[in-house]
Amino acid sequence: MTIILIAAVGSNGVIGRDNDLPFRIREDLQRFKRLTLGHTLVMGRKTYDSIGRPLPGRRTVVVTRQSDWSTPGVEVAHSLDDALKLADGNDLYVAGGGEIYLQALPHADRLELTEVDQAPEGDVTFPVFDRTAWTETAREAHDGYAFVTLDRTAPR
Ligand SMILES: NC(=O)c1ccc[n+]([C@@H]2O[C@H](COP(=O)([O-])OP(=O)(O)OC[C@H]3O[C@@H](n4cnc5c(N)ncnc54)[C@H](OP(=O)(O)O)[C@@H]3O)[C@@H](O)[C@H]2O)c1
Repeated sequence: MTIILIAAVGSNGVIGRDNDLPFRIREDLQRFKRLTLGHTLVMGRKTYDSIGRPLPGRRTVVVTRQSDWSTPGVEVAHSLDDALKLADGNDLYVAGGGEIYLQALPHADRLELTEVDQAPEGDVTFPVFDRTAWTETAREAHDGYAFVTLDRTAPR
């Protein structure tokens, strides 16, 4: 199983504002869809609320501490460990938000980052991580953003 964190991150680390994305980049949303289709998506309950529906073509797992939370088309996990166990040997994409990225980072094998050349105001950030533990295996530069793949190289 490969655990992949996928996120669009401002140059100041900001990923969210008022439970929404601080930037809208169509190509980033298209890339998110292309990479995650057919795979399991794990996300925090707040991120799920901001999307508001299960994303088609993907198994959606929402992490919440609320014992009575449920919604059609979504699997519920009451801890991150339980969510990660649902991967069944397949690729599992962790789709945020800040709380979930922070807890999932030690388990991650790969980071699929969209590095956005903006420093927006925001209230949620991507966790600070040690770049020396990761190798950049792909970088696709675009006007205003870059798609970057980092694979873990140092042992956990
Ligand atoms: N830029 C990007 O790529 C990107 C991607 C995703 C999200 N975002 C943004 O990130 C923001 C949301 O992030 P956030 O940090 O506020 O919230 P979040 O990580 O999406 O969700 C937090 C919630 O997850 C649940 N949770 C967290 N840890 C848990 C655990 N160990 N066990 C069980 N449940 C757990 C809790 O839900 P309950 O309160 O229900 O118990 C908690 O309130 C939004 O602004 C969103 O737009 C950005």
